[in-house]
Amino acid sequence: MTKRLWGSRFTGKLSDLAEKFTYSIDYDSKLALYDCLGSIAHAQMLGKQGIIPKKDVAALVRGLKQLVKQIESGKYKYNPRCEDVHTDIQEKLKKLIGAPADKLHTARSRNDQVTLDVKMYCLDHIDNIITLTRDLQKAIVAFAGKNTDVIIPAYTHLQSAQLVLMSHHMLAYVEMLERDKGRLYGCHKRTNINPLGSCALSGSSLPTDRNYVTRQLGFGSTAQNSMDAVADRDFIIELLSDISILGMHLSRMCEDLILWVTSEFDFICINDAFCTGSSIMPHKKNPDVLELIRGTASKFPGRLMELLVLMKSLPLTYNRDMQMDKPALFDCVETIEDMLPLMTELFGGIKVNKKKIAKAIDSQYFYSVDILEYLVKKGVSYREAHDTVGVMVKQCLDRGIKISDLSLSELKKYSKLFETDVKKLLKPEVSVKIKRSVGSTNPAMVKKQIETWKKKLK
Ligand code: ARG
Repeated sequence: MTKRLWGSRFTGKLSDLAEKFTYSIDYDSKLALYDCLGSIAHAQMLGKQGIIPKKDVAALVRGLKQLVKQIESGKYKYNPRCEDVHTDIQEKLKKLIGAPADKLHTARSRNDQVTLDVKMYCLDHIDNIITLTRDLQKAIVAFAGKNTDVIIPAYTHLQSAQLVLMSHHMLAYVEMLERDKGRLYGCHKRTNINPLGSCALSGSSLPTDRNYVTRQLGFGSTAQNSMDAVADRDFIIELLSDISILGMHLSRMCEDLILWVTSEFDFICINDAFCTGSSIMPHKKNPDVLELIRGTASKFPGRLMELLVLMKSLPLTYNRDMQMDKPALFDCVETIEDMLPLMTELFGGIKVNKKKIAKAIDSQYFYSVDILEYLVKKGVSYREAHDTVGVMVKQCLDRGIKISDLSLSELKKYSKLFETDVKKLLKPEVSVKIKRSVGSTNPAMVKKQIETWKKKLK
């Protein structure tokens, strides 16, 4: 057992079981770097304000910088007999510099210290997740740019609906990821408030300069309520909620790709590097990576619920329950940081099976809305045109013929306004080209979107 930060009040020793149950060092050691950086700024502030002597500040900064070096070079090994990362760093510092180490905890508590460390961790990782999301957007836009001539069936209720450009379909995901980034930026803004100096909960009677620490650490502002500062875990809940939505988007994307690689669809081929085989059926190539991204995405809302439930009945301010915010946070952050680059790499190796897609769009029922709008353009009301085309489609289906098989006189039986030019609509290229509303699948518009995204994501 190592020296605790709170030992003197106690005569008895903590039971081994209680020790094992309450220690967080095996997961919160991930915060070691932030703990040291926060302490350097804090020590410098204590010196500047004359709260501790300058020579002690020099020793503290020297020792902490040595620890930073160890952490950055991977040489830092936490002591599993320490209660948490803060105790571990404190103890290591004492070994390095001796007595001045005992002055570091002046005008702070582990309550504001741990909030600071977790906030710094979140800010760094939010930045990273935004970058990784942008990389994925770029890969999708590149894929869309390479396949602007591919027309696929689009679905509602998973029933063939209308034709769209495959690029248009993929850009839908770029939009979702853009909203994800927006949420993460918002989360960054609300996290970027320095809690350090709030101490246990009420502040300090020492002449600290909290704004100095805020500036040193690059925070946007200083927390204005010491109780909220140490009791707040909203920023983690918000981050996990943003990650949950992002994960849900990745999962939906995987689901589309999984459908597209089935032998029934066969629209695309995924690089072997992201598939596995079957131990019994030699012909199989399974999209396991996509399935596992879809499957793993379920952990995010689970972890989010864990934190909402963890926090919902806690009285102000700090409660030890809050230690349990970290396993959930680290798990989600590390998982999404694994998923995003995987998805990006996978996109680089997707091959489009144009022949199979051509077969899948070989039905004239995809044009029913185009024919309907043909009549609307000639002054027919939408409802009447819907009935006309509905009857026509039904009778063609019953007779086992195509719309293009209908003669002009047969067409006229459905509506006098039909002319032979209606048959010009029965082509995939025409179906996408005649779309003209903003945001539609019109190829010129989609190409423009691709260019806009390329510029925006540079
Ligand atoms: N390991 C603790 C946590 O992660 C650090 C804060 C402990 N504070 C206290 N007053 N016991 O929450």
